[in-house]
Amino acid sequence: MRFENKVAVVTGAGQGIGETYAKRLAAEGAKVVVAELNAEQGQRVASEIGDAAIFVKTDVADPASCAALAEATKAAFGGVDYLVNNAAIFAGMRYEPLMSVDLDYYLKFMAVNLHGALYVTRAIVPLMEGRKGAAIVNQSSTAAYLSGSAGAYYGISKLGTNGLTMSLAAELGPKGIRVNGVAPGPTLTDAMRQVDAKIIEGIVAQMPLGRLGDTNEQADAVLFLLSDAAGFITGQTLCVDGGMIRKP
Ligand SMILES: NC(=O)c1ccc[n+]([C@@H]2O[C@H](COP(=O)([O-])OP(=O)(O)OC[C@H]3O[C@@H](n4cnc5c(N)ncnc54)[C@H](O)[C@@H]3O)[C@@H](O)[C@H]2O)c1
Repeated sequence: MRFENKVAVVTGAGQGIGETYAKRLAAEGAKVVVAELNAEQGQRVASEIGDAAIFVKTDVADPASCAALAEATKAAFGGVDYLVNNAAIFAGMRYEPLMSVDLDYYLKFMAVNLHGALYVTRAIVPLMEGRKGAAIVNQSSTAAYLSGSAGAYYGISKLGTNGLTMSLAAELGPKGIRVNGVAPGPTLTDAMRQVDAKIIEGIVAQMPLGRLGDTNEQADAVLFLLSDAAGFITGQTLCVDGGMIRKP
């Protein structure tokens, strides 16, 4: 029960990896805010968790919606100890070349996948100030370190997310708030189950551990980075990817 009496906000917690983050935080004692665009899914996750969770319909790409998230969180729980910026356009995303992707789609994509983490952080940080052990984790991807493939804007948004992690760590460290990231490799969620088995085989073949990740393995890393056990770690993005990306 590492997170008893703590409050966590998890964006995009209506399914997939974010759902596991919300449930694992609650399982270790945290009160959880399921901040999700899809009302049906967000409500489902909050009610499966029970009294420890609330659902707040949130569009991370809309600063007004992020401000409303902060207000609802304050009203329900008073303050925030942990923020996980997990929401992204991922399941069902388009895989287009940079030179021809529809610009409205590209700008919307960046608004959700890159700027969203900053909008939510700006709204929530005032509720974190002065809370001992406060921490943020931004969801990156191994795609941040790859380039040149269709849908490259996804990796670009995640590389930008790594930059946000580094700069926010510098800005918020003096307030006692740590900011880190995780970069999952291919992880088994409904989004991944829709991908052609041959493509998955090709991806797994590049991974030293030779298998897809499990959402609980991502949660293990995020909960560690949020916890006091990571109390001297900030500004880092940790690859949780079966060895797919190997950096010096
Ligand atoms: N599954 C993987 O293999 C993998 C690998 C690397 C990184 N990631 C990252 O992990 C995170 C979760 O991935 P997933 O597989 O669970 O994806 P997913 O698409 O299943 O889940 C994303 C969630 O974010 C929500 N969302 C989308 N736009 C939103 C918005 N504007 N405001 C609020 N919520 C919004 C969706 O409704 C959904 O519930 C994403 O950031 C993704 O980029 C996933």
